[in-house]
Parts: sequence; structure tokens; C-alpha cells
Amino acid sequence: MKIGLIGCGSIGQFLLQKINEDQVLPNTEIIAVFDEREKSIEKLQKLSSQFSFEYHQTLSTFLQTPADLIIECANIESVNAYALDIVEKKNLLIISIGALADATLYEQLQEKTKLHSTKVYLPTGAVGGLDVIKAAHSMGGLDTVSLISRKPIDALVDKKFTTETTLFKGTAKDAIAKFPKNANVAIAISLAGIGVEKTTVQIIADPDVTRNVHTIQLQGDFGKADMTIENNPSPSNPKTSYLTSLSILAKIQSLDEQIVIG
Ligand SMILES: NC(=O)c1ccc[n+]([C@@H]2O[C@H](COP(=O)([O-])OP(=O)(O)OC[C@H]3O[C@@H](n4cnc5c(N)ncnc54)[C@H](O)[C@@H]3O)[C@@H](O)[C@H]2O)c1
Repeated sequence: MKIGLIGCGSIGQFLLQKINEDQVLPNTEIIAVFDEREKSIEKLQKLSSQFSFEYHQTLSTFLQTPADLIIECANIESVNAYALDIVEKKNLLIISIGALADATLYEQLQEKTKLHSTKVYLPTGAVGGLDVIKAAHSMGGLDTVSLISRKPIDALVDKKFTTETTLFKGTAKDAIAKFPKNANVAIAISLAGIGVEKTTVQIIADPDVTRNVHTIQLQGDFGKADMTIENNPSPSNPKTSYLTSLSILAKIQSLDEQIVIG
């Protein structure tokens, strides 16, 4: 599989290291990176000679490469700017899932992918349990879904708190508007279940935790579920859980599987 990448930060560089350097996925290679911003040239030239990829400053040439899959690991703005053009030609994996809280973009992606026979993949990211939520919701019998995200303070804000502080309580839709880098999981579980208006979210800054801890609770015809994931942060970005990068590798692997689990 040939991959094109948007975003060479914590997640992007992890993927370059694991896929191109360590070759953890057989027959898989990141062949191209896209970034149209002048300020990125120097950094990407360096990375390009280290990890052997083509560096593109225009989307049209990037989309002419033989990449089978484009992976977005940049930010919500880049999903807004490029996703609709990408799916005209390529399959797209989005990790800044918060972008899809926008119902219009979601609908447009549905239509375009149908028209061009492409796919959008949303990996599980920093949480698990999307399979449970989807199954519980498959006949519409899912009543409530809530998420409590408890994170170290520096993963959330620049301020210093000495005690546990709730920074946000409300809908998933409002959570991603206020915390665009910290509420992607809220949108992932919303899209798997009862939507961004009905899924409730609490974001807590906690001086006593060193991990990003997500607790998902759901209730419906199936019964009840209570799932807690304690994520180690990525060494290079405390806002991003290490599991997020692993979930992208797992998704790429699953695209090639004959026996699909879950
Ligand atoms: N779905 C999830 O569970 C989940 C979990 C953690 C992080 N995320 C999201 O994943 C994304 C990447 O996370 P990260 O930790 O690697 O962030 P990061 O800040 O370390 O890296 C982002 C990179 O994208 C680059 N970038 C920004 N705008 C760009 C553009 N227009 N074109 C090309 N490159 C651009 C930046 O220069 C930077 O190198 C973020 O949006 C983050 O919120 C999602």
C-alpha cells in the first residue's frame, strides 16, 4: 500500500518512523507528504531525506501520486480545507475526527465518496469501544452516551491548577468547538452512536493524573457499558495519546485483512 500524508507532527513522524524506517507493515510505504505552507519547507525537506518521500506544495500534484490512501494527521482546519477534494481521487483516513462534528461536511463527504467510489476511514483514535456503541445503536435502542475525559493540566491549558477542575460540561458539539485538540474522541463516539447533540462530555484538568483517562458510559436496550481507557501521552506531544498513533497503524493493517475482527 502506498500512503500520502498530511501533517508531520507527533503522529505523522511516528508513522514515518514505523512505516518507512522500521517497516512494521509489510509492503506499505509513505511515498508523499503534502504541506502548502512556506514555513514548513525546511522541516519537510529534512524529513524527506531522512524518510525518503516526495514533498508536495500543491494538492493537485500530491493527488497525482500513486498513493492508495491519504492519511490526515494535521488538524481540523486541514480536513475542512482538503477532505472534499481528496475523496474525489483517493481514500482518506481522518484522525482530526472533530472536523466531522460539522454535519454539512459529513453529508458532503458521504455524497462525494459515493459518487467517486472512495472511502473515509475514522480510526478509533485515543479510545476504544466504538464497536460496542455501534452495535448498541444499530436498531436505534441506545439511550444515553457520556464521556468523561480527565487529563493532566498541561495537556489541556497553559494555566496552573492545584486541584481537579472541570473545564467543560456539555454536548460533544460544544466540546469540540471549545477544545478542538482535545475532544476528537467525543466526536468519534458521537458519530458511532447518538450524535453530537445528544452525547454528553465532561473535560477535567487533574493535577494528580499523568495519563489521559477517558471513561465512556452508555445505556440502552442492550444493557449498560462502562469503559475506561488510561492512555500514556505521546512522548513528543502530551495532548496526543500514544494509542492514537497505534490505532492508525491498526486501521491500515485491517484494510488488507481477509478475516476482519470487530
Ligand atoms: N481521533 C483522536 O482520538 C485523536 C487523538 C489525538 C490527536 N488527534 C488529532 O490528531 C491531529 C494531529 O495530532 P498530533 O499530535 O500529531 O499534532 P501535532 O501538533 O504534533 O502535529 C500536527 C502537524 O500538522 C502540521 N500541519 C498543520 N496544518 C497543516 C496543513 N494545513 N498542512 C499540512 N500540515 C499541517 C503541523 O505543522 C504539525 O507538524 C490533531 O488534530 C489532534 O487533535 C486525534
